[in-house]
Amino acid sequence: MCSIDLLISLLLIGLLHPSKAELNFNNDLENNQKFKSVPTTIKSYENDTVLLPCHLDTPFRYVRWHRDDQPLVDSRHPEILPPNERIVLWGNGSLQVSNLKAEDTGDYYCEIMSSSNHAVQVHAIEVQYEPSVVTEPSGILELPIGAIFEVICMAKGVPQPSISWRLNGNTVDQYSNSGNRQSHIFEIKSRSMAGLIECLATNEVGQPAVAGVQLQVLFAPEVTLPQSVVYTRVGDRTHLECIVEAAPLATLQWFHHGVPVAIGAHISSQETELGVVNQALDSYVSLVKHVLTVKKVRESDMGQYECRASNSIGFKSATVELTGRPMPCVFKINPGTQSSTSHVLVWQTESMLPIMEFKLKFRQIPSANITRTIRTNWTELTIPAQVTIGPIYITSYTLHGLQPASLFEVSVLARNSFGWSDNSKIVRFATGGEVELPNYSTESELQYDATEEVFDNEITQRSQIFTASMTHNGATTCEYSGFIYLAIFIQICLNMRYT
Ligand SMILES: *[C@@H]1O[C@H](CO)[C@@H](O)[C@H](O)[C@H]1NC(C)=O
Ligand SMILES: *[C@@H]1O[C@H](CO)[C@@H](O)[C@H](O)[C@H]1NC(C)=O
Ligand SMILES: *[C@@H]1O[C@H](CO)[C@@H](O)[C@H](O)[C@H]1NC(C)=O
Ligand SMILES: *[C@@H]1O[C@H](CO)[C@@H](O)[C@H](O)[C@H]1NC(C)=O
Ligand SMILES: *[C@@H]1O[C@H](CO)[C@@H](O)[C@H](O)[C@H]1NC(C)=O
Repeated sequence: MCSIDLLISLLLIGLLHPSKAELNFNNDLENNQKFKSVPTTIKSYENDTVLLPCHLDTPFRYVRWHRDDQPLVDSRHPEILPPNERIVLWGNGSLQVSNLKAEDTGDYYCEIMSSSNHAVQVHAIEVQYEPSVVTEPSGILELPIGAIFEVICMAKGVPQPSISWRLNGNTVDQYSNSGNRQSHIFEIKSRSMAGLIECLATNEVGQPAVAGVQLQVLFAPEVTLPQSVVYTRVGDRTHLECIVEAAPLATLQWFHHGVPVAIGAHISSQETELGVVNQALDSYVSLVKHVLTVKKVRESDMGQYECRASNSIGFKSATVELTGRPMPCVFKINPGTQSSTSHVLVWQTESMLPIMEFKLKFRQIPSANITRTIRTNWTELTIPAQVTIGPIYITSYTLHGLQPASLFEVSVLARNSFGWSDNSKIVRFATGGEVELPNYSTESELQYDATEEVFDNEITQRSQIFTASMTHNGATTCEYSGFIYLAIFIQICLNMRYT
C-alpha cells in the first residue's frame, strides 16, 4: 500500500531535516505507530536530569541517538563514548541527560531497529534558565544636555526574556528591538533626565534581571545672585555674592565695568562649596558660592559687577550693582485715621547716605475698572525728607483732596547724594465711600510691574482737580482701633455702614 499520503510524509520529513542524511528516515506511519514512547518536548531547568524514552512494542536490535547534527550514543558501538559523562544510554533505549546545562537545549533523535521495524522519533529538551542582562554602555555615562545616545541591552535566558526600560524607576515606553540586543535611544532634554537608566529582562523563570547605566547630565553653569543690588557707602566693607551650579565644575571670574577685577589687598574673593546644603543634587553637580569682598569701598568701586562662570559646556554671567543709592521704599501698615478725601501713607527706606527728598506718585484708578489702557497719568509730588539719623527712614505723608469712594495707586522713590532709589512696589488704596473694591488688599499681592513704568516720561503736573480740592478736607470718619491696612480698612468701614 504505497499511498500518496505516505509519499508526502516522507517528503516532509526530508524537507524538515535536510541535514540528517546520516540518519535513516526510512520509517513509515505504520512503524511510527509501533512506538510506545511519544515525542515530547521536555522543559527543564539547569542541573536537572531528564530521561528521553525510545521504545517500540517489540524488542529492539539496536538504538542510537543524535542531538541536532551531533551523534551521541550508539548501542552497536559502546566503545565510542558519549560527548560528555552526563549522557547515558540505558539498556531499554532511553537516553538520560543529567546535570543539564544551557547547551543541552536541542532536538534529540532516537533511531531504533527491531527485527521487523526501523523507526525514528524526535524529542526536544529546552533547558530553561533565568534571565541575565548587561547594558552597553554600563557604569557612568557623562553627556551634555542635547546629546542623543543609545543604550543596548543584551539579555540571555530561556525562554527569550522580554525587555523593558526604566529611567529613575519610571517605565520608558517606546523602544526598538532586534533579537535579544534590544536598544533604546535617549535624548537629554534637561538636567532632570540625570539618573539611572535600567534595562529589565524577564521570563517566567526566576527573578527579573536588571542592568543599567548611571547618566550624569553635564550643563553650562547656572548663575544666581542672592542680591542683584548691593547697597553700601564709601568706606564700608561689602560683599558681592554669586552662586554657581555646574557640571563639570565651573571656573569664575569677576568683572567691574567689563574689566577683570584685580584680586589683591583691596578686593579679595572666596568660594564655598554648598553641595551639602543641597543634598538632592547628585554629587557630580557642583554648587559653589563665590564672594567678592571689597574691604573699604571707594567711589570708584561702585557700579556694575559681572560674575562670569564657565565650564567645558558653556558660560553664563550675571550682573550685580554696587551702589550708594537708597533702597527701594516699602509702604507700611498705617494705623492712622482715614477720611473719605484724604489718606495717610507711611513708608520706610534704608540709606547709607542721608536722604534728601522723596518723589511720591499717585493716580486714580477708574472705578471698578483697572484696565491698563484707560489708566490716568501719574501725579508726582516732591516731599522733602525729615532730618533723621539714618540709616532707617520712616516717612509719613497725607494725601488730601482725594475723590471719595475712589481707588488709587501709589509709588514712592527716595534720593540721596548718590542718586535715586528704584521705584517702590505699587500699592493701592481706596478712599471712604461706597466703592467696589477689587480682590487685592495687601501689599504682598501687588507686584511692581516693571514693564509698565517709564517713570520720568509718564509723570505729569498735579491735576487741576487735585489742586482745586486741596483745600477741602473730608469730614467722614470711621472709628476703629487696631492695625488695619489701607484698603482693608475701607472694606471694614463699608461693612460697618451697611450694618
Ligand atoms: C547548578 O549547579 C551549579 C554548580 O553547582 C550552580 O552554580 C548553579 O547555581 C546551579 N543552578 C541552579 C539553577 O540551581
Ligand atoms: C529505562 O531504564 C531506566 C534506567 O533503568 C529507567 O529509569 C526507566 O524508567 C526505563 N524506562 C522505561 C520506559 O522503561
Ligand atoms: C473696563 O473697561 C473695559 C474697556 O473700556 C470694558 O470693556 C470693561 O467692560 C470694563 N469693565 C468693567 C467691570 O467695568
Ligand atoms: C498723559 O501723558 C501723556 C504724555 O505726557 C499725554 O499725551 C496725555 O495726554 C496724558 N493723559 C492725560 C489723561 O492727562
Ligand atoms: C474677584 O474674586 C471673585 C471670587 O474669587 C472672582 O469671581 C472675580 O472674577 C474676581 N475679580 C477679579 C477682577 O479678579
